[in-house]
Amino acid sequence: MKTQITEWLLEVERFTTTNSKDLEDFRVKFLGKKGHLAHAFEAFKNIPPEERKEYGQHVNNLKSKVNDKIAELRASIDRSSTTGSDTTKDIDLTAPVDIHDLGSRHPLSIVRKDIIKIFERLGFYVSDGPEIEDDWHIFTALNFPQDHPARDMQDTFFIEKKPDIALRTHTSSVQVRVMQNNSPPIRTISPGRVFRNEAISARAHCIFHQIEGLYINKDVSFADLKQTLLYFAQEMFDKDTHIRLRPSYFPFTEPSAEMDVSCKLCKGKGCNICKYTGWVEILGCGMVDPNVLENCNIDSSIYSGFAFGMGVERMTMLKYDIKDLRIFFENDLNFLKQFASL
Ligand code: DAH
Repeated sequence: MKTQITEWLLEVERFTTTNSKDLEDFRVKFLGKKGHLAHAFEAFKNIPPEERKEYGQHVNNLKSKVNDKIAELRASIDRSSTTGSDTTKDIDLTAPVDIHDLGSRHPLSIVRKDIIKIFERLGFYVSDGPEIEDDWHIFTALNFPQDHPARDMQDTFFIEKKPDIALRTHTSSVQVRVMQNNSPPIRTISPGRVFRNEAISARAHCIFHQIEGLYINKDVSFADLKQTLLYFAQEMFDKDTHIRLRPSYFPFTEPSAEMDVSCKLCKGKGCNICKYTGWVEILGCGMVDPNVLENCNIDSSIYSGFAFGMGVERMTMLKYDIKDLRIFFENDLNFLKQFASL
């Protein structure tokens, strides 16, 4: 039996293969129920007691050589069956995957992007201006009288010791910069953050977002403004949205209006969102005041234009039926995750 074991050892040493089937046959031949090792252990009882220790060591040696051989060949077969890269050899393909939470866009970013997309389809381009602005761009150029309440510390954050510099209270200041730096035709929208000295509540915040729109060309009329805003409202909400323009006042537009859309929740029938009027206000607009054009070096006898401004928070609250705007700034994951797929 001892010589038989030595022969088997030689056979193990010489054995090699590159396919799993041969390796499995080899395993069964040596380790199977009726394999060589089973025979070798079976023969144990016929070995004289004084030789048993040495015989046992032989058989165990054979067994460990067989196991080593199988492990070595299995590893090399696995390596060559993957793309040939050594780094993959320890990957357990049956292990459960780690699930990573995906981030999501903030609802205000989603709605800002939606609004921008709609106006881009009409040929408007996006422009930008500074958040810390001088009095001239925020107020004077936009035809605010010297004693207008917006110029009061109560409404505006002025920069300490610099009475002329403030955090912009509206994105209308970007209109001025665009008109100063470009000649008509101008078709632009300006999204951005604005700041007002207001107490924080469910409906107001001291920081919020606006999108300003401006179109300057020859022969621009109020009808162009109305049609542009109707298109916007129907793209933003749905095709059967109606709009209504109510006369209003802004220093920088004449005539000025506020625009309502038919309440998308009750379809104009009346509910608590529209306070039972069937309408919700979404923006301010008007024909750019000739004084503003002149302040920006645009000849008001040749050119006219319209402007509008809307609050992104307000649009988002309407779109997703959100009742308290403070939630936009709280970074509450349960709230934010609801927008993960948008
Ligand atoms: N700037 C105004 C505000 O902050 C919004 C606005 C109204 C902008 C009318 C305009 C406009 O361009 O024509 O309340």
